[in-house]
Amino acid sequence: MNIRAATVEDLAGMQACNLQNLPENYTMKYYLYHALSWPQLSYVAEDQGRIVGYILAKMEEDVADGDESHGHVTSISVLRSYRRLGLAKRLMIQSQEAMATVYRASYVSLHVRKSNRAALALYKDTLGFTVREIEKKYYADGEDAYAMRLSLKHLA
Ligand code: ACO
Repeated sequence: MNIRAATVEDLAGMQACNLQNLPENYTMKYYLYHALSWPQLSYVAEDQGRIVGYILAKMEEDVADGDESHGHVTSISVLRSYRRLGLAKRLMIQSQEAMATVYRASYVSLHVRKSNRAALALYKDTLGFTVREIEKKYYADGEDAYAMRLSLKHLA
């Protein structure tokens, strides 16, 4: 499986993958905003021309006083039959490296459902993220989110 930076031509495939895998979906305008603003931060995994996984990521624009410049993973997913092959780990690492080297991000943040065992294992155990706080009723259906972070200072 090939992993490469996402282009505008990939956005429809990324959106299709997202719709299959997650209840959090986004308008094409929001995908375009990511791809045009931070073209180095979103990646796709492709198998024979088909997008089987993606990471959609950005730099945080509303940085609070005293906070450091940081990246944010808006969404990541991998089609069911391509899971447990290491694709999500590779997508995350590619994006994290670009956040640190291109944008000098100090850390990367994301939100994940408290019940999402697979994603939590990926973030915590494989990548070393820690939970910063619990955001109550973050999701539209009322589920809480873990707000997680990983320092990128060693990559800068
Ligand atoms: N159960 C337990 N641990 C898991 C699981 C699982 N089902 N899946 C991944 N992991 C952990 C393991 O530690 C794994 O390492 P190992 O295979 O050596 O044991 C490690 O994560 C790396 O796994 P990958 O193969 O890189 O992960 P994969 O490509 O399968 O994708 C993902 C993981 C993205 C969570 C996938 O299951 C998925 O698409 N789920 C549905 C969508 C989703 O939940 N996305 C995240 C939402 S949060 C957000 O977008 C910010």
